[in-house]
Amino acid sequence: MSDKHFHHKLYVKKNIDVAFSPDTLRKVESILSHYPEDQKKSALIPVLQIAQEEFGGSLNVDIMDYVASLLNITPIEVYEVATFYSQFYLDPVGKYVIEVCQTGPCAICGGEDVLHYLEQKLKIKVGETTEDKLFTLKAVECLGACGSAPVMQVNTEFYEYLNLDKIDDILETLRKESALPKPEKQTWKERLS
Ligand code: FES
Repeated sequence: MSDKHFHHKLYVKKNIDVAFSPDTLRKVESILSHYPEDQKKSALIPVLQIAQEEFGGSLNVDIMDYVASLLNITPIEVYEVATFYSQFYLDPVGKYVIEVCQTGPCAICGGEDVLHYLEQKLKIKVGETTEDKLFTLKAVECLGACGSAPVMQVNTEFYEYLNLDKIDDILETLRKESALPKPEKQTWKERLS
């Protein structure tokens, strides 16, 4: 049997419905230009972060396939990374994703109470999003701030030494903030820093 029988081309779907805006595409191409052709995968995490922001806060198969095509890697390589890191969301999420730590010192210091209190206040269960699409609640493992337990993270913001009053204040502040006009758009570099 000749060699060609052992060779098949990797298929990477090009989804024409999913595409970065020209500006974002230029930024992504600039990131990719720092890597040799066979090492584009090294840029996967920053490109997925940009994709998640650009496409409404979460990833789906079409978006991940699109990213795979840009990096010239297989879709499965993208799925593996996107499902491994908790910073990536594979379901639609609310404007604010609340992640409550449930392990180690946080578990000892009331992480479960924090979670249950949030479920009551938001009238949703873990993994759900409020009807107004404002909050998604998640239970996560160590957020790396064990010394300040119990801890939760809302998008990129950390909230430490939580108690029920603090949670009330945080939710109220976020609700108010969400009603404000959108802030000036930051550059992608500022958003990732
Ligand atoms: S155990 Fe909660 S932040 Fe580490």
